[in-house]
Amino acid sequence: MHTIFRKEIIELLNGDAREIFKKADSVRKKFCGDKIYIRGIIEFSNHCCRSCLYCGLRRENKNILRYRMLPGQIITLANQIAQQGIKTVLLQSGDDFGYNRKALSNIIYKIKNANPEIAITLSLGERPFDDYKAFKDAGADRYLLRHEAANPKLYARLHPGNTLKRRIKILEYLKKLDYQVGAGNIVGLPGQTLGDLADDILLIKRLDADMAGIGPFIPQSETPLKNFPFGNLDLTLKILALTRIITENTHLPVTTALATLSPEDGLVMGLKAGANVIMPDFTPEGYRKQYQIYDGKVRINLKRTGDVILKAKRKISLEKGDSLKCKKPQKACACI
Ligand code: 5AD
Repeated sequence: MHTIFRKEIIELLNGDAREIFKKADSVRKKFCGDKIYIRGIIEFSNHCCRSCLYCGLRRENKNILRYRMLPGQIITLANQIAQQGIKTVLLQSGDDFGYNRKALSNIIYKIKNANPEIAITLSLGERPFDDYKAFKDAGADRYLLRHEAANPKLYARLHPGNTLKRRIKILEYLKKLDYQVGAGNIVGLPGQTLGDLADDILLIKRLDADMAGIGPFIPQSETPLKNFPFGNLDLTLKILALTRIITENTHLPVTTALATLSPEDGLVMGLKAGANVIMPDFTPEGYRKQYQIYDGKVRINLKRTGDVILKAKRKISLEKGDSLKCKKPQKACACI
């Protein structure tokens, strides 16, 4: 494939969606096959020390009940997910320093020790570098840290006190630690341009991310962005599709935000526009309701996951679903 330029991406974003979806679907088939990989999510804490303007977990939001699951509860739930044959457990929380390095390392170690066949994915936000190293040593395999917005000015506006530069530095460090790394962005953020979105795709490409989570902006009533419009469905699907076309074998999940924006068929449309992963939510009912990143967040459970895969005429995979990128040193690798 020739090097794609920002200008070309913008032109494609202005063009016909169907052609892009069709091309993305064929690229997905060629590089990822028909299998859909399953990741079981545990949203184990909604405490957060950040102030991201779009997110309902931001620390200024006094209108949610904050919770922290106990280590024992998290481990039991992870074991239950593994017993159902799901081979990736994703531990997600706000940026919560209520669990220190040692506590989290213990949780990771115990889950991995009881279920050596599974991958543990972390999505815990920004932490000191030594934490990432300790979590890897404890048995974590992957780390999801969306870059959120590739325009540094937009990033700074939306994330008071934080910079895109630091976010990228962390992603690069995680790669160095040999994590499989997930980046990704929100589509339809207030003030975002098509050029910014082209840069999102190019950043995912440049980082050579193993995964990328891409979903629409959904307003949250307790945030400063509560009155801004929802991200556009077609545009979100186009970004997903172009990310597939440009990055070829990156794992691309259909996101809960996509299902929330279009409850009827958002997920099926996503799978037909290049996605190859679904992440059903296993967070216990009482807690899940408090994990209101955005309003109306729907629940993707295992039943729905199966229905969606069937509807999209794809195959459910119970494999671990590691990165499809070649990890071997170039000389020893038969894939090039
Ligand atoms: N709309 C869409 N996505 C959001 N996220 C947080 N708040 C919102 C929102 N209002 C996304 C962020 C974060 C992920 C867990 O959820 O990209 O990384």
